[in-house]
Amino acid sequence: MECCSGGNVYGEEFSPAFAESTARSYVRRGLSRVAGRMAGFLETRGVEGTSVLEIGGGVGSLCIDLLRRGADRATCLDLSPNYEESARALAQRYGVEGRLTRQQVDIARTPDAVPPADVVVLKRVVCCYPDCEALLAAAGDHARSRLVMSYPRVNPASRALLWAANGWNALRGREFRGYLHEPSALLGIPERSGLSLVMEHRGPVWSVAGFERPTAA
Ligand SMILES: C[S@@+](CC[C@H](N)C(=O)[O-])C[C@H]1O[C@@H](n2cnc3c(N)ncnc32)[C@H](O)[C@@H]1O
Repeated sequence: MECCSGGNVYGEEFSPAFAESTARSYVRRGLSRVAGRMAGFLETRGVEGTSVLEIGGGVGSLCIDLLRRGADRATCLDLSPNYEESARALAQRYGVEGRLTRQQVDIARTPDAVPPADVVVLKRVVCCYPDCEALLAAAGDHARSRLVMSYPRVNPASRALLWAANGWNALRGREFRGYLHEPSALLGIPERSGLSLVMEHRGPVWSVAGFERPTAA
């Protein structure tokens, strides 16, 4: 899923226009309700002075928000090269560019290329990667204290939407596919890295799960 005949599968799907629209949405409206729930989970447990690793962060609005809430530094990973310009402008706008590092790395394939962090976040990412086991195992192993992620509900409506979106990509000759991983399977993976599930919110479209390393509680 890394490269297709013309380049990067994720770059084809997550374009500069997508990057710009997510950056604009953060500037105008702040975090979405789901992202706000993720940030709130971390903030109530103490975000001040922590290091943050955002996996599949796009323009990095969630880790930028956590930096604005007092996190010390953040690393934002993504596989699409198309976020960089909008991401740089967004970080500069909020004065956090000196505390934010961006890497175009697949942590599931090269976990050693990424430093661990106190807090790991994945917003709308597990549905964009086929091997959720490798992705969430690497995410869990990198989380010194906490991990929070959002993931889509699995129901007839989400299955139909995904089927249509994947079909549309197939018709256009695009290689990117979305995935609906079973929530019960997803939630077990960070636990195998020693994290405990301490918060679960089931939303109509996106659910949020928060994990904590028992020694960090
Ligand atoms: C739907 S977008 C969400 C972006 C951002 N989190 C947001 O909510 O605006 C999913 C992102 O995850 C990235 N992604 C998927 N698998 C990844 C992986 N293994 N490592 C890093 N990024 C990944 C994709 O490139 C894409 O930008």
